[in-house]
Amino acid sequence: MTKLHRKSFKKMMGLAGLALICLLLGAPAVFAASQPPAAAADAPEIVTTGIPATSGMDTLTTIFTRRSVRKYSDKPVSDATVKLLLQAAMAAPTAKNTQSWEFVVIRDKNTLAQIPSFHPFAKHVPNCQVAILVCGNTKLEATKGHWVPDGSNAAMNILLAAHSLGLGGVWTTFYPYEDRTAGIRKLLNLPDHIMPLTIIPLGYPVEKRAYQDRFSPAKVHYEKW
Ligand SMILES: Cc1cc2nc3c(=O)[nH]c(=O)nc-3n(C[C@H](O)[C@H](O)[C@H](O)COP(=O)(O)O)c2cc1C
Repeated sequence: MTKLHRKSFKKMMGLAGLALICLLLGAPAVFAASQPPAAAADAPEIVTTGIPATSGMDTLTTIFTRRSVRKYSDKPVSDATVKLLLQAAMAAPTAKNTQSWEFVVIRDKNTLAQIPSFHPFAKHVPNCQVAILVCGNTKLEATKGHWVPDGSNAAMNILLAAHSLGLGGVWTTFYPYEDRTAGIRKLLNLPDHIMPLTIIPLGYPVEKRAYQDRFSPAKVHYEKW
């Protein structure tokens, strides 16, 4: 081997070594990037009200299979379950984190029976095991009107959490109907700054509602209308 050949051979070996080191250093990063998000070792411990915070149903399945349920069995819904649903409600995002929501838990059959008298689409309500009225507190909202999206997020969390636990429920709306709002305000003695958004009757379903794929590409607009 000539002196020139020896020099080029040394240079090549040096470059190959460097490439190997880069590969070894870079591999864990590449490997990590190709993995699904870890079930974070540093995830906070979720303290619940006595029943597990994990339901066994994954998030996407919960979202896609939730349907409105208006027929409920006689099986009771425990206070611990209701508390967990309220905990899920209060995990929702709100404008400026004001948490401008309030909740009324109603089990009294006599109270529930009166709701269809001022709400034309609530005949399923008296048959539930328990209902959660989701309200907004206008004294707490970030800006006038924010109680509506704040409360809606909480209501949606209740519906999804309930479904994931095998319960059924349905958004039964008060907002934006003045007559229904006046009816529930009177029935429950709601103060003026407490705005009823929706009542969610809950129970174990006796009907099985089919999954619906509602994805419509025509509803999606990219960059501009
Ligand atoms: C804002 C809003 C208001 C609703 N109001 C009522 C209601 O007053 N009574 C009722 O039985 N269902 C009500 N629903 C339930 C809808 O009818 C139901 O979500 C819709 O038909 C879609 O069916 P799904 O929930 O099974 O996907 C309401 C839902 C929303 C989001």
